[in-house]
Amino acid sequence: MAKKAVKQVLKPAAPKASKPAPKAAGIPTKEYADRRERALKALGASAAVVFSGEGAAPLLGKWRAHSHFEYLTGVSDELGAMLLLDPNAEDPKKRSILFLNPTDPEWEVWDGYRDQIGTALKTRYAIDSIMRKRYFGRTITAIARKRKHLACLHAPAMPDAPVTPDLALYRKLAERIVGVSIEDRAELLPALRSVKSAAEQALMQRAIDASAAGYDAALRAIRPGVDERDIALAVTRAFEDAGADGMGYNPIVGAGLNSTVLHYMNNRGPVADGDLVLIDAGASCMGYTADITRTYPAGGRFSKRQREVYDIVLESQLAAIAAVKPGAFMWQVDQAARKVIDKAGFADAFMHGIGHHLGMEVHDAEPDGALKPGMIVTIEPGIYLPDEKLGVRIEDDILVTAAGRQNLSKAVVKDPDEIERLMK
Ligand code: GLY
Ligand code: MN
Ligand code: MN
Repeated sequence: MAKKAVKQVLKPAAPKASKPAPKAAGIPTKEYADRRERALKALGASAAVVFSGEGAAPLLGKWRAHSHFEYLTGVSDELGAMLLLDPNAEDPKKRSILFLNPTDPEWEVWDGYRDQIGTALKTRYAIDSIMRKRYFGRTITAIARKRKHLACLHAPAMPDAPVTPDLALYRKLAERIVGVSIEDRAELLPALRSVKSAAEQALMQRAIDASAAGYDAALRAIRPGVDERDIALAVTRAFEDAGADGMGYNPIVGAGLNSTVLHYMNNRGPVADGDLVLIDAGASCMGYTADITRTYPAGGRFSKRQREVYDIVLESQLAAIAAVKPGAFMWQVDQAARKVIDKAGFADAFMHGIGHHLGMEVHDAEPDGALKPGMIVTIEPGIYLPDEKLGVRIEDDILVTAAGRQNLSKAVVKDPDEIERLMK
């Protein structure tokens, strides 16, 4: 339905308390308050604003808040919202203030009902101070005058992209208030977000377990004569049947030559006997995503050449996983993988990095420094030979533990003999 068609407000007033509590069975509400406490402490003398972001109408695609904002508030569905962090506010209740757009009964008929500011909303978000945005200008001006230091928490934009909303705001304040300085603290939230709490690890394990069900479905769906779409549908359907909310990112299902295209998205090609089928897909649960890749033979058996390449990728992946431990850097993990692939003569056929942090986003916020217990990273070497229409990638999700590592996605079969046995 087009929005233009509305003639009259259909209801005289918006119903109250219309939304379910966010993250009810996921992240405990108190954890959001603890996250803000840690961010406030790390900010020191500076104040900062984190933006949920703007977006398109829901019909044009599902909108999601900026993950920094959602991480600190648990609020995923408030367009144009802001979180003001002021660690030096005398009143502890004013150290975090959430600013929301006004309610609008006419829009809410289309997009969903929103709550009045009151105890129910404050309790749900575990934030004592919630205000409408009309009060934001005077509040941030007063704080900027007192603190004089404003910290950019959003990652800096690249030269051709629009300036980030925090920097744009601070520049306006610095033009109007004498002595305001702006600092780059973009490392602060990645440092917090990259170490996953027990609740986050549990959600990610749920997403990974649902993904494992998708890979089981793929093993049953793959055979010569189907197309990539049949497999993609089987995988994503199994994710949701296993309790996932959906996909954490657009899945890749590529057969034959398509298995060599790193970000193949079409997922519409035919699957022929003799092809390898590369599937890179991850389910999402309550805002956290898995990221797993497996490569299967379409006909149920690897050819000699496919098996040769598969074994090298697997050996390289196992070497990289073994290099994951507290204190290691991702470049060292990358080196461990590359050593195996280079030695086998495929250096130029492994043209991407070994992996990345994983969490609320598939390519999650990247912290500076070495790995620490609680971080979750992907390990995903590959060899891509377009001339042979042969691409292999194997990707697992690895939790860094005090003792070393734990492979959270080990239930998804990758042993080639076991794959052939299951596909029989
Ligand atoms: N699924 C995207 C990646 O593995 O980085
Ligand atoms: Mn990945
Ligand atoms: Mn992936």
